[in-house]
Amino acid sequence: MGKIISFFDTTLRDGEQSPGCSMNKREKLILAKQLERLGVDVIEAGFAAASDGDFESVQVIANEIKNSTVAVLARAVKGDIDRAWEAVKGAAKPRIHIFLATSPIHMEYKLKKKPDEVVQMAEEMVKYAANFCPEIEFSAEDATRSEPGFLAEIFDRVITAGAKIINIPDTVGYAMPNEFYDFIMEIRGKSRYLDTVQISVHCHDDLGLAAANTLAAVRAGATQLECTINGIGERAGNAALEEVVMALDVRRDIYGIDFNINTKEIVKTSNLLSGITGVHVQPNKAIVGANAFAHESGIHQHGVLAKRETYEIMTPESVGLTASKLVLGKHSGRHAFKDKVESMGYDLTEEELNEAFEKFKALADQKREVFDRDIGAILTKGIAGEDARYKLNRFVINAGNTITTTASVVLNIDGEDKEGISFASGPIDAAFSAIEKCLDKDILLEDFSLQSVTEGTDALGFATVKLRYKGNHYLGRGVSIDVIEASINAYIDAVNRIC
Ligand code: KIV
Ligand code: ZN
Repeated sequence: MGKIISFFDTTLRDGEQSPGCSMNKREKLILAKQLERLGVDVIEAGFAAASDGDFESVQVIANEIKNSTVAVLARAVKGDIDRAWEAVKGAAKPRIHIFLATSPIHMEYKLKKKPDEVVQMAEEMVKYAANFCPEIEFSAEDATRSEPGFLAEIFDRVITAGAKIINIPDTVGYAMPNEFYDFIMEIRGKSRYLDTVQISVHCHDDLGLAAANTLAAVRAGATQLECTINGIGERAGNAALEEVVMALDVRRDIYGIDFNINTKEIVKTSNLLSGITGVHVQPNKAIVGANAFAHESGIHQHGVLAKRETYEIMTPESVGLTASKLVLGKHSGRHAFKDKVESMGYDLTEEELNEAFEKFKALADQKREVFDRDIGAILTKGIAGEDARYKLNRFVINAGNTITTTASVVLNIDGEDKEGISFASGPIDAAFSAIEKCLDKDILLEDFSLQSVTEGTDALGFATVKLRYKGNHYLGRGVSIDVIEASINAYIDAVNRIC
């Protein structure tokens, strides 16, 4: 058995910062449980000081997850650290992850602090957090644009203060793989204590090099890799966990590394994330894209039939892609539905399961075959709304190419019905402005998109609405066979998220 490398998954924190990928507490918990089944060593559950919602999500994940360490992010300030500890202290294995920028540009323009002050702040805050939390990780934000000598100094100080994991992030995705390798080796050479703790890396994908840089860091001695599922994350995203894991797996001849990830759970985790967020990966995405194991050209097909390895460097089964897709229909019972939902990674309460089963039955009446992606779509809605204030009661749209479209939408708001009537050039436009008439909020529609969940004229429509309210963005999702209803539901979902 080779050296063991740890996977630190930040889908629920850095990943959630990705446009369209925000999740509520229930959705985060479902994903966290799947990440635990996937075998990630550390789950970064959120940034507790960012909002009450983030705090509660970290707390519930910390209380439920038993096998993986649960990490929580904090800036190097006492208030953040207190809040982080309050949220994570119920975890079987808690970790506080403190970050502070170390590059000249960040220190001068963002922190407005001198390098000495930054070192002192990092040291004091790590010491403060280590008083109550047994495991502290320190991240030097924008490390790859920082001075290696300065990093060595700050790392030695925070290690002495109690940090057990030192993270070297390529925050802006600027590094090149060979340069990143040399950079880590140089810091290791200059630091007295770095080799006594775990070295971690966290790479962003602005130049499409996040996975390559992460692998270069493994060669330079990193033993913790920070990644996200499907590579979601701030801007161009983070290193995709599935890519890094499978590279280490397929090229064991180079790396000789072992890990605790159960690769057979990869596709399920990727689909679960897409189902929850409604953000699908592109078809040609490595490992988890729809075409990742599809062979289109005749020459390739012939080769694969003669000997699989001619064009396949790993098997679809090794990432959990199995040929049999049990399709459900209107005669499927609750038991088959429950099995299917569980096999997709959803861990629902009885009440959620009952609600989802009702939706499934209604859908199966309208649609001949119900596919996994349909179920993912109805579940997304099933677990998104907790005690929604705004509910759709009914709507009527009168549309045609020779008349002005009219819409009447009746919402139930806190138990009371309110009707909005509007005219516009199209049905969705009219429906949205009818909803706006029912609201007492100054809301701006920023984006709207509609896509079909599967193929065929009876496919479900999946609508996404982005609203702006008091400077913040809120994303709502809606699903229905009727695309106007899907759009209205998405709008109402976003309004409920504001509340
Ligand atoms: O990209 C980054 O530097 C981060 C830190 C908070 C680790 O996300
Ligand atoms: Zn990041």
